Amino acid sequence: METLKGTDIQKAARLLKEGRLVGLPTETVYGLAANALDKGAVLSVFAAKKRPSFDPLIVHLPDISHVSRYAYADETSLRLIRGFSPGPVTFILPKKKEIPDVVTSGLPTVGIRIPGHPLALELLRAVDFPVAAPSANLFGTTSPGTADHVISSLGDAVSYVLDGGPCEVGVESTIIRCSEGDVEVLRLGGLTIEAIEEVLNKKVTRIKLSSSRPEAPGMLHKHYNPGLPVHIVDFDSLPEVPAEKRVAVISFAPREVEGNVVFNEALSKTGEVSEAAKNLFGALRRAKDSGADLIWTEWVPDEGLGRAVNDRLKRASTE
Ligand code: TXA
Ligand code: MG
Repeated sequence: METLKGTDIQKAARLLKEGRLVGLPTETVYGLAANALDKGAVLSVFAAKKRPSFDPLIVHLPDISHVSRYAYADETSLRLIRGFSPGPVTFILPKKKEIPDVVTSGLPTVGIRIPGHPLALELLRAVDFPVAAPSANLFGTTSPGTADHVISSLGDAVSYVLDGGPCEVGVESTIIRCSEGDVEVLRLGGLTIEAIEEVLNKKVTRIKLSSSRPEAPGMLHKHYNPGLPVHIVDFDSLPEVPAEKRVAVISFAPREVEGNVVFNEALSKTGEVSEAAKNLFGALRRAKDSGADLIWTEWVPDEGLGRAVNDRLKRASTE
């Protein structure tokens, strides 16, 4: 049966209450939402995504007044939640027992996020439970930026997709953890390090990627696999490839590229890193659909949202 999309909040709320899965639009990427207090529903999220059980889910709430029901927030976290939520940021906090262990993969902490999308907030207010939602894609692949991406990634596993249009930010939330006033960034994302440092008036620490024991399991070295080899190149001195290989070019700004190029898209027409973030996952999907054999792409300026774009490129890349 075809999965439906639409803007019916009551229908989405009812399905969640029944333990079903719903596509959730957020400002970052679409989520695969379930009632976080319903263990069966949460297990079906892991199954639908083919996600390993050690990779915990983020819990979504409608506003800051709900946080203390599910987690213990320290002063620095509270200050940042007040400053940046609703918004593209997730806070790792010690969890309360109300959140089932299956949501957090047995960790004593929970990721809490108040998403900045009006439909998401409406749905979160329409239900009387917290909503667990990872990105609505198969584990290890690119995240969805439209309702159709959710349907093409997960099909029947999703009962309904709340269609909030294309995601504004395009990369997932920044994940941060506060400890004794210091702020650690576990995943670069939609909230920039610059913005956090400006509010705190001090530097944050970036936790390094890992190939084996990641601090946040989504911080694995390799993730975001678009289904094609991805090579990060210098477009001014291109690598040799066999003539029969069809190439998809994803550049930062528009550029002409010689060779057997079957797809050529710029992440930004205007040279803005935020535009590049918004277009990144869609461009990787379109490149895959173009029939190309491999992708050539390049680093974007490593500032603001460009850092999150480069992080995703690095982890999508073949080298
Ligand atoms: O923007 C987003 O964050 C999207 C939207 C839907 O909210 N969600 C998202 O979820 O990206 P997901 O599951 O694809 O990525 C969440 C990441 C995973 O890498 C997970 O390991 C990490 O958050 N995470 C969740 N809970 C954690 C915890 N208690 N401690 C450390 N990392 C955690
Ligand atoms: Mg994900």
